[in-house]
Amino acid sequence: MWYLINNIISGDSSPAIKKFSVAIKSYSILIILKNNMYYAMNMECPHAGKSLLNGTCSEADEIVCPFHNFKFNMKNGACTNNNEGYRLKIFPTKVENNQFYIFIEA
Ligand code: FES
Repeated sequence: MWYLINNIISGDSSPAIKKFSVAIKSYSILIILKNNMYYAMNMECPHAGKSLLNGTCSEADEIVCPFHNFKFNMKNGACTNNNEGYRLKIFPTKVENNQFYIFIEA
């Protein structure tokens, strides 16, 4: 189902990258606003379970884990610099009527 997330859309366009964290059901979710695109992903890195909150974003729309520098595509979760099959959980997002939503399976 779609979950409304308040206080994500502010209307200010200042920094190119913004991060937010929310908890929904059993998930801790990292939301990244980058160049007017929203991405939502599991906060927990699939490699060793560390937090991605302090990760950086690459030019190629990857989140780079700050612990062992694995990179994950923020659209599909694929690990782009390691072939051991790690995949980051990605959540669909949408903006409707200036409200931000994340989809979580029931
Ligand atoms: S915990 Fe993220 S790359 Fe190892």
